[in-house]
Amino acid sequence: MTDYKPTIVVLEDADAVSEYVKDEIVKQIRAKPNAILTLPTGGTPIDTYALLVKAYQNGEVDFSNVTTTNLDEYWPIKKAHPSSYAYYMTEHLYGHVNLKPENVFIPDGEAEDFDAEAVRYRAILEQYPADLGFITLGPGETCHIGFNERGSAEDSVVRYVPLDDQTIEANARFFDDPQDVPKGAITQGVADILSAKRILFVATGEHKAWGLRRSLQGEINSDSPASFLRRHRQVIVIADKAAASLL
Ligand code: PGA
Repeated sequence: MTDYKPTIVVLEDADAVSEYVKDEIVKQIRAKPNAILTLPTGGTPIDTYALLVKAYQNGEVDFSNVTTTNLDEYWPIKKAHPSSYAYYMTEHLYGHVNLKPENVFIPDGEAEDFDAEAVRYRAILEQYPADLGFITLGPGETCHIGFNERGSAEDSVVRYVPLDDQTIEANARFFDDPQDVPKGAITQGVADILSAKRILFVATGEHKAWGLRRSLQGEINSDSPASFLRRHRQVIVIADKAAASLL
């Protein structure tokens, strides 16, 4: 198996990272107006999405032929729940740009059978292979990408996963009642993520420094699912100084 050394871009702070990632996404869409993008949720991408909305409003980018496939969704969760990723994407991006609803895909947190939903979503990913994956690093020691928690295999595909305790703790900030964080999610697998043509791997903040070092400099194995990104030829790591401080 071949390993690659990703390009690492270290920027002053999280704002500069958001700007950089926004520029990369805009460039991708301009180069290929019907680009397929894989998108994350969580705290890291919020400012990037705000900048993309601004770019759209200023006429710098047109989403009318773009397709998006989200990385993951909690399971079970109602789409209308303010902490669902379906809600998050509408709030931060889909509700403000001219993406066509039929070109927007996210796992269904309301599906009765998560195995059947995983099969459905996997077929969508096969139909819409990503040109660009925007991937963020999970909290603490999880080193997760999507919701591929520790133990996830390099060849894993869309499936239900129980969430790591560190993920549940970190994501409790997005819920009114921390007890409400779902215990599981439906996520793209590591192999699905690696099938994107190009990947932007993004980490900001000192609290991501340990995980970024583990993922980029530690052994490539399931103890750090993000380390599998080093099997991909075209990854750009974009980090602020704080996240890169242990590299
Ligand atoms: P964060 O989460 O952006 O809120 O830190 C990232 C993740 O869990 O993948």
